[in-house]
Amino acid sequence: MLYIGVDLGTSSVKLVLMDETGKIHGTVTKEYPLYFPQPGWSEQKPEDWYTQAIAGLKELLENVDKSQVAGISFGGQMHGLVILDENDEVIRPAILWNDGRTQKQVDYLNNEIGKETLSKYTANIAFAGFTAPKILWVKENEPENFKRIKKIMLPKDYLAYKLSGTFCTDYSDASGMLLLDVQNRKWSKEMCDICGITEDLLPTLYDSSEKVGQLKAELAKELGLSENVVIAAGAGDNAAAAVGTGTVGNNKCNISLGTSGTIFMSSDNFAVDSNNALHSFDHADGHFHLMGCMLSAASCNKWWNDEILKTKDYAAEQKGIEKLGENHVFFLPYLMGERSPWNNPNARATFTGITMDTTREDMTQAVLEGVAFATRDMYEVAKSIGVAPKRTMICGGGAKSPLWRKMIANILNVEVDVPVCEEGPGMGGAMLAMVACGAYKSVEEAAAAIVKVDKTEKPDPELVAKYEARYQQFKTIYPALKETFDKII
Ligand code: XUL
Repeated sequence: MLYIGVDLGTSSVKLVLMDETGKIHGTVTKEYPLYFPQPGWSEQKPEDWYTQAIAGLKELLENVDKSQVAGISFGGQMHGLVILDENDEVIRPAILWNDGRTQKQVDYLNNEIGKETLSKYTANIAFAGFTAPKILWVKENEPENFKRIKKIMLPKDYLAYKLSGTFCTDYSDASGMLLLDVQNRKWSKEMCDICGITEDLLPTLYDSSEKVGQLKAELAKELGLSENVVIAAGAGDNAAAAVGTGTVGNNKCNISLGTSGTIFMSSDNFAVDSNNALHSFDHADGHFHLMGCMLSAASCNKWWNDEILKTKDYAAEQKGIEKLGENHVFFLPYLMGERSPWNNPNARATFTGITMDTTREDMTQAVLEGVAFATRDMYEVAKSIGVAPKRTMICGGGAKSPLWRKMIANILNVEVDVPVCEEGPGMGGAMLAMVACGAYKSVEEAAAAIVKVDKTEKPDPELVAKYEARYQQFKTIYPALKETFDKII
């Protein structure tokens, strides 16, 4: 049978068609606009997601035996606030995960409600990108819109709702709303009260690999699919990507270099980082994970190449980079402010250490290294609470660069496993659909059968030592500039 994974990303929706052996039968990507209506704001139109997902599904299914398609599921950009009115119309554009407008609401939650209380209710504190501060923002700034809210959901849940008619979400994605009691897997009544909403505005909670319904009859007809096609809840994109790299069960790690950068550590047991610098979320395998998230990772390299160097040939820019561990130029990758570990929407990107002999290659190298050093910052937090994986999987667009993988391996001093097949959250989504359809008994069983390691990037002790010295220098830059960032906003 065939299964469709829908990766609802920030720049595009990527669809993957897979069978239960893990063989890919097709992929399609459809882009949509991202709006920055004010500096630090980030929005998208849910209607665009849907239109492009349907266009993508049609293209994916061309020349395919449609009777073989058994299930569809999702990996979606997390935290985005989607609000619908009584007619199921979208009230305003979705406010995305990398939107930094909610500093006032975050301060209220973290300082007046208090981090300890938030952590007790949800296992997490407030970050600008999380959903609850956005609900408070709409309440304060757009009271007319707030009054009209009849449904609150996350980006991928909008697709699931449109495809199946079921108002649903899953535990992994719901964890990032700051409305879920993560440990006990239920909505937090206290957080609903704090946000001025009632639980009936929130979706029904499902396991990621659980069937939420079937494809609506009229859509089945339009797409040429059976009405029995199962729609499974899906997961937040990081949990879905983790499924796709086999990062399920106890003590596994996945690093994702996508638009955002994450370090994702799966665990059978619930745990909270006492500083709440790492998120404590439910996982798509039914257990838990800790995750650090930086807001700009591969997007730094994209910005540097597309906007500044005006090139699309990223590999050519990396060709001349040879002196690893010896670069005097540093780059802070905070193009959209920073989440983990600083929780500071005012943080900004900078180059430091440029001299007359600095070359284009040095600058490109600094961008790649800056992202790897910032990943190390998150890894250090994990180490400080006794979670220190010595090997990790890697995925995301940035992971396609052998040079970047080498930097990650040596800057973190971990072995980096590259999967044979890397289709990110879409692959995880397809695997969740397989479990929902009964092709596998559990997410772990699906991962064991499908995910294979292709090659491993091993750290080189000499390079590790060189990078260690550089990291100690990198570490001093953000604290030195922190106050300046607040002043130049
Ligand atoms: C995770 C996060 C990002 C988005 C990217 O907390 O905000 O990784 O999910 O789509």
